[in-house]
Amino acid sequence: MTENLVLGKKIAEGKTKIVYESTNANEVILEFKDDITAGDGLKHDVIPGKGYLNCAISAKLFEVLESAGVPTHFIKYIPPNYLIVRKVTMLPVEIVCRNIAAGHLLQRFPVKAGDPLNPPLVEFFLKDDELHDPMLNDMHMAYLKLANRDECDEIRKITLQVNDALKEFFASKGIILVDFKIEVGRDGSGRFLVSDEINGDSCRLWAETEKGKIFDKDVYRKGGSLEEVKNVYVTLYKKLIGQEPKY
Ligand code: TMP
Ligand code: ASP
Repeated sequence: MTENLVLGKKIAEGKTKIVYESTNANEVILEFKDDITAGDGLKHDVIPGKGYLNCAISAKLFEVLESAGVPTHFIKYIPPNYLIVRKVTMLPVEIVCRNIAAGHLLQRFPVKAGDPLNPPLVEFFLKDDELHDPMLNDMHMAYLKLANRDECDEIRKITLQVNDALKEFFASKGIILVDFKIEVGRDGSGRFLVSDEINGDSCRLWAETEKGKIFDKDVYRKGGSLEEVKNVYVTLYKKLIGQEPKY
């Protein structure tokens, strides 16, 4: 067990993370698993070291957001694969922000792959694997008591701040932020904090100079070997953290 880390009771387990209570009632501990899934969990594998790489990358990206003044749940990274985070009430919504047309957008709307989306497109999806994460508009959000109209505006505003900060950071590493998914939670005073994780599982990342080169989970979604997928996560780690992985 990692030094100085006391894991409390398991609160929840998802496809790629476990949430534990902490000794501090205002915090929880996230453990990043080596599991990788796609197709709402239909495709599933385990890649040793993936939890570490994604946890370290998430910690780095949360630090980037905090420096840009975006409120997040991040408190501390405990290597290899734990984050100490503020306890929030998670909104069961995936918030997607798109700068370039790719992925599911192409199946739903008459847009061409690779077309720039200006201004960026922000979409809400209900987190429900069985229903395949249906898209939500502001009225669905209010009807399902997820967020009222003003809160939807607030979430979009935060998402665009995340986009600005991450786009700039990735650009400094020669990477184009095509799109990403975030989740938010409410803290004790009802304020939204960017929560969950942000890494190659939840972003589309394209090389600025090498056409067709990507640094994200699409390699897995599109059937790449587990070795290829692991290499992508290692490459992303090296580009963002600027050193060799330690574990
Ligand atoms: P999409 O084009 O499949 O809707 O994906 C948009 C972005 O959201 C992409 O960067 C991948 C990310 N994403 C997740 O993090 N989790 C998901 O379950 C899905 C469907 C997408
Ligand atoms: N996150 C979803 C899953 O694990 C889908 C995806 O990322 O493509 O199944």
